[in-house]
Parts: sequence; structure tokens; C-alpha cells
Amino acid sequence: MYFLNKQLQNLVRVFDQNDRRGYLRLDLNENPGGLPEDFINKVLEDVTPEFVAQYPETKHFSEVLASYLTTTPDYLCLVNGSAEGIRYIIEAFTSPKGKIVGVVPSYFMFQVYSEMYERNFTPVPYHEDLTIRSDDIINALTEDTQLLILLNPNNPMGNVYSDDEFEAIISVCRQKKITVLVDEAYYYFWPKTFIKYALSERHIFITRTFSKLFSMAGCRLGYVVGAPEDIKMVQKLCTPHNTNAFAMKFAQSIIETPGMIDMLVSNFQNGRQYLIDALDTHGYRHKGEAGNFIFIEPKSDADTIVKRMKSEKKILIKTYSNVGEFGNCLRVSIGERKYMERFMTALLELDT
Ligand SMILES: Cc1ncc(COP(=O)(O)O)c(C=O)c1O
Repeated sequence: MYFLNKQLQNLVRVFDQNDRRGYLRLDLNENPGGLPEDFINKVLEDVTPEFVAQYPETKHFSEVLASYLTTTPDYLCLVNGSAEGIRYIIEAFTSPKGKIVGVVPSYFMFQVYSEMYERNFTPVPYHEDLTIRSDDIINALTEDTQLLILLNPNNPMGNVYSDDEFEAIISVCRQKKITVLVDEAYYYFWPKTFIKYALSERHIFITRTFSKLFSMAGCRLGYVVGAPEDIKMVQKLCTPHNTNAFAMKFAQSIIETPGMIDMLVSNFQNGRQYLIDALDTHGYRHKGEAGNFIFIEPKSDADTIVKRMKSEKKILIKTYSNVGEFGNCLRVSIGERKYMERFMTALLELDT
């Protein structure tokens, strides 16, 4: 008997990100410049036929990563990009028709997965001034809520939670027995982390990625942090050998190369400072400086700017529509200063 999962029939997926070569890519929050070329070549130097032929082994890299995070490997589950970890958490800790609460707009896959697995996603919208209020999140948490998804910092607005706000939210989750997922894809761009919760109590997960600051989006590597009992459940959902050997090799080299992470942070910070100053100088309102992206209110039509950036300037950026008092806006990934200069020059020319 033929069978098709009904959820898939109505599920809308957008796979439009396959023709981006040759553009300055400021649309998906990657590092536009990537890792230094000599570093890449050095890492590849000892890639052997055996290395390529063999299934990837995770033990050693898990130990390196755990020690870097000052924990042990049983608190970690390696995944093929944090998008995979998020999916597993939704699959493992919510049921069909189960209620998931999350701030909107945000990383779109939370809602895609909710639909894919027939979960009920309850959105908590931003306010007109683009702030998230912890009370709104708390008010959305009912006895039947199974999962709360937070982002620290949030994409696309870059909002962050204070310790008090986070603690207030978490204490309601503990009381109502709600699992919490904190997506820290943009950790390092905003160094405040809530990882200590995932390392010290059950039912709280952190997801992180090597795609953003670590500049390895093409390799696909992320990880989930949580209590060992909970991590075991996430691990059970993983496909066999889900973690790529090249990804682990690059990630390990970044962690073990003295000064590499600091260099990536500092390049990023210089680019960010330049862009913020330039936007201020030219009278642009902006928001979202806590991640590696910025949200800009343009002076003319946002969609037209995005189209012209692509066709005339070979620069990819994104629009977001109806976002609070900003209306239709641009979201631009932040990278090294030279890329931000190129973007700013193009913006001033096109946004008239
Ligand atoms: C908030 C957030 N979480 C998770 C991801 C997924 O990252 P990856 O699957 O590359 O680790 C992204 C990607 O843009 C993101 O913006």
C-alpha cells in the first residue's frame, strides 16, 4: 500500500540557496571571507586516502570539544549542523499536537519542524519597538506546553536576555515541566551564554554551530549540550556517522590553533564597528548588533534594494517584511571591514 505522510503534502520548504557563487554573501549570516587560506591548506595537508575512506570517528573530537567547553563528552551530541540538533530536540521532547512556544520572527526552521511533525507552534511576537518582553514569553507558557525555544542572541533582531529575565523564564519552565532549547548559533558575537544551565540541570539544551564565527557552514557541524540522560535520547535519533570527518578536523584545528578564535572575533568586531558608525553617519536606523547580522531600515523600498544589490552589485542580502516600527527592512550579515565597506558603498548608491 502506498503511503505518504500527510504533513509533507502541505509543508512548504524553500531550497533556494544553491546559486550563490561569485556573490558577496551577506544573506545567510556566514562569514563572507571565511578562514585564512593558509590555515585551510595546512589542515588539508595531512588528509590521506584512509582519512577519506574511513567512517568518521567522533571520540577524539568530542573530547577536544568537551575540554574546550570545560565539560565531558557525555554532555554533548555532535550533529550535522545545529539545524539537525534542533530537529532532534523537537522530535524527542514534543508529541504530535504538542505545544511549542517561540519568539517570532526568528530562525524559520523552528516553525518548519513544528509543521513537519504536526506540533502546535505558538508564536510570541515582538513589540512594535522590536523588543521581546520576557512577560510575553512567560504568559504563553501553559501547563500543556512541551517545549520553549529561545535564542541567545535572537536572529534576526539580535535581542538578548538579561540573567534576571532568563532566570524568570526558566523558573516557570521548571515549575510547568517544560523542556527548554536555547539556540546559541550566534554565541561569540555576543559572548553571554546560558550554557551553565544545560551543564547543570535536566530538560535544558543549548545548540551551537560551527557555521557562524567558526566559518565552516560548508562543512556542517554543530552540537547539542544537555544533561547526559537527555543527550542520550538526542543521540538515539542521529543517523549513523552523522558528523563529517572534514568538519571535525577543521573544527579541532580552529580550537587548537592559538589565537585563531580571537582573530575571527576581532575581524568581525572591526567590521561591525565600521558598519554601525557608517550607518549612524548616514542617518540609518539599525538593530541587531548582538549577532553577526544587522537589521537596517532603508530609505527606499527594501525589495528593490535587495534585487538591485544582487543584479548590479553582486551582493546578496535579505529583506524582512512588516517588522514592527521598521516596516520592511534589510538584514545584512556582518563580516570583515572590507566587505562592510563594499556593502555600504552599494547601499548609499542604491538607496535613494
Ligand atoms: C538561529 C539559528 N539557529 C540555527 C541555525 C542553523 O545553523 P547550522 O545548521 O548551520 O548549524 C541558523 C542558521 O542560520 C540560525 O540562524
